[in-house]
Amino acid sequence: MTVDGIQKVGVLGCGLMGGGIAQVAATAGYPTVVKEVADEFLKKGMAGIEKSLGRFVEKGALTAEQRSGTLGRLEGTTNFEDLAECDIVIEAITENLEVKRETFAKIDKIVKPSAIFASNTSSLVITEMMTATKRVDRFIGMHFFNPVPLMKLVEVVGTITTAREVLDQAMKFGSSLGKVPIRTSDRSGFIVNRLLVPYLLDAVRALEEGVGSVEDIDKGMKLGCGYPMGPFTLLDFVGLETTYYIANIMFEEFREKRFAPPPLLKRLVLAGHHGKKTGRGFYDHSDPANPKPLY
Ligand code: 3HC
Repeated sequence: MTVDGIQKVGVLGCGLMGGGIAQVAATAGYPTVVKEVADEFLKKGMAGIEKSLGRFVEKGALTAEQRSGTLGRLEGTTNFEDLAECDIVIEAITENLEVKRETFAKIDKIVKPSAIFASNTSSLVITEMMTATKRVDRFIGMHFFNPVPLMKLVEVVGTITTAREVLDQAMKFGSSLGKVPIRTSDRSGFIVNRLLVPYLLDAVRALEEGVGSVEDIDKGMKLGCGYPMGPFTLLDFVGLETTYYIANIMFEEFREKRFAPPPLLKRLVLAGHHGKKTGRGFYDHSDPANPKPLY
């Protein structure tokens, strides 16, 4: 199922999030252009997409034909010009406001004026990116969740100048990707991170205060509340530096203690213990199938 008015999708960034977004767009049937800054990142991102599609084929969720159709609809590029004919461009580059503003200002001159621009930012202010462009009525947030091919949610974020029909179209587009879209407004963290980030930070505070060990706090939330992952497993999965960064932005926006990153989180980030991606966070991931709690 595709959506009227959206024939071609552009994605900026082919990392974990951008690659996932490009994958679900191409799987849904949209010709999709994904832009990276260099060939090596593109290659890595495409390999991730192929691996994920392979897992879907293995478990019978996709046929081999659907996989090759999806790959055939995906075009990788390092040129902004290749996004010119896209009807929606979703940005999933580094979480740096200045870099995002520069990128949006650049593509505003290249991509057709009728196209919708969307940012996948988890916590930066959409309005601040929007003002780098002239399409203030056609600018939204579309916040996907990790791992994008599996998580069903997308938050659709309107600003005070987003046109009603753009939001409606984005909601339909989200559904066409096989996701469940929810509407929210441009406040740092939107709905999910507004609730999730203080919970993750509180788990670190509980650990600091000796309420329980990493293993017991994780077991508590997993087995007591039915969460798929305990807070420390999720912190290691999302990345400690990502959570720390989001928390600081939310603290700056709301000036509330619940968003302030606890000292232990800061120390781990400073030490380079970012979680799964660095092999060490609240768990030691030397054996990825059997992470060992460290605290
Ligand atoms: N592509 C395709 N398939 C994948 C995949 C991917 N990227 N990742 C995992 N899978 C498959 C696995 O192969 C496995 O298949 P199987 O059932 O046939 O064996 C299946 O998905 C389940 O994976 P696992 O057995 O490895 O692990 P789980 O059963 O624990 O499921 C999970 C994994 C879906 C990630 C689940 O643990 C979960 O829902 N965790 C919570 C994730 C979460 O909260 N995400 C949000 C993070 S916050 C965020 O993104 C916001 C940002 O702003 C910070």
